[in-house]
Amino acid sequence: MLGIILYKSKYGAARQYALWLSEALQLTIREAGTETAEDLADADYVILGTSIYIGQFQIKSWLEENKGKLAGKKVYLYIVCGTPANETDKQEQYYRDNVPVSLWDIRRRIFLPGRLLYAKLRWRDKFMLQAGALMARLSGEKLHTTDYDDVKQEHLAPLLTLIRQETMLNSPFVITSVPTI
Ligand SMILES: Cc1cc2nc3c(=O)[nH]c(=O)nc-3n(C[C@H](O)[C@H](O)[C@H](O)COP(=O)(O)O)c2cc1C
Repeated sequence: MLGIILYKSKYGAARQYALWLSEALQLTIREAGTETAEDLADADYVILGTSIYIGQFQIKSWLEENKGKLAGKKVYLYIVCGTPANETDKQEQYYRDNVPVSLWDIRRRIFLPGRLLYAKLRWRDKFMLQAGALMARLSGEKLHTTDYDDVKQEHLAPLLTLIRQETMLNSPFVITSVPTI
């Protein structure tokens, strides 16, 4: 099966995961929006990667524009964020707010830990982060504003296992059933 990795990242965290996936699976990698029509049409499966800024996936508008082209393909989505892994309700909300309803059957999605280095942010993002943190506090939530970096290759293990299983099981060279005697 032919796959492609498409990602959107501001400061490199989602891009780093895309590079590791590309290396592990030997797949072409493109920034979402720079792929050609053939890149997408030729792919049997698509791995999408995005980070989140104030509740919004970087890849949100790309998903809306391309949802029709993803129909019939296996779609894997990884989301890089600052929300801790145990906040599953918040993650679910992010998913529903950003992914078009027609793609809600993507079941293959994973939230991955990101990186925040405040000193390296552009002034607009510093401002957005402070404003977002204030809004979150007012609504009883929390947005992390202190530095963290948990971008690690090992977090990709479950996703890699799943993709390998699913894309190889569907390969014409694999016997998927054994006749009974
Ligand atoms: C201005 C700003 C807003 C953010 N908003 C959120 C958010 O709403 N939810 C969240 O989980 N993480 C949020 N984050 C954390 C980023 O998603 C995280 O830093 C991620 O690793 C960025 O990945 P990238 O470098 O690929 O863009 C925010 C970070 C910044 C700087």
